[in-house]
Amino acid sequence: MIDIIRGDDFTTEYSITRVIRAVLEIDRLVYGVLDPADNGDENFWRERWRHRPDAHHVCFVNGFVAGYLQAVPLFPWTSHLVKSGQLRDAQILDSHVPLVSQREDQSLYIMSVVLHPAFQGLGLAHKMWNATASYWNKLSELQECLLTIWSEHGGKFFRPFFGARVGVDAKGHQIFSLNLDHNKLPVFSGAKTNGSFAVGMRSA
Ligand SMILES: CC(C)(COP(=O)(O)OP(=O)(O)OC[C@H]1O[C@@H](n2cnc3c(N)ncnc32)[C@H](O)[C@@H]1OP(=O)(O)O)[C@@H](O)C(=O)NCCC(=O)NCCS
Repeated sequence: MIDIIRGDDFTTEYSITRVIRAVLEIDRLVYGVLDPADNGDENFWRERWRHRPDAHHVCFVNGFVAGYLQAVPLFPWTSHLVKSGQLRDAQILDSHVPLVSQREDQSLYIMSVVLHPAFQGLGLAHKMWNATASYWNKLSELQECLLTIWSEHGGKFFRPFFGARVGVDAKGHQIFSLNLDHNKLPVFSGAKTNGSFAVGMRSA
């Protein structure tokens, strides 16, 4: 059973803490030790969650945290700093990110999309992306959507949507703008999995 749950649907501090610890563990499994300037620690995540809970979509497979997609809206001036490579991911603070109530959601930054190694290659990222796109497409008229490519699989995953290359970060990762369709995020059609599909774990 696959569930994609948005951050503002988690109701207890306990469930948020449990998920944050699980996603940090997934990051560690996937990337090894990350530079704190790229990922932040548990407190950083907790603050981000409090500030903008809807930035997180979490994928559960049979109750197990399989992965997450984090997409934060940016003020125009913050977007400029990201594009010019002056602001790495964990340097994006709450003051750079509009609150839901500010309704300044024209620029979106795909901070990360990561699946536990046992759940990669099964099409789950398509589902997380489509859930994220559906949410933002209802919420706002986007002017841009940015993302930094961290890996070959990430590049392959997003390639159908690539627009212009807008910059390079301090570690040499390329920053792209995604093609929007009338100010809306594109969605994947024909996703490999669906909500009733029983996903088996691949060996990590
Ligand atoms: C990138 C990522 C989110 C894609 O999610 P996903 O659900 O695995 O995506 P898909 O199942 O559609 O796979 C996308 C392609 O990559 C391949 N792939 C993904 N993970 C793979 C793995 N571990 N081993 C081999 N191939 C893999 C798939 O075979 C597929 O290729 P295809 O289109 O030719 O079939 C996921 O692989 C992941 O978490 N990777 C580690 C973190 C990462 O690199 N994030 C992106 C940063 S920009």
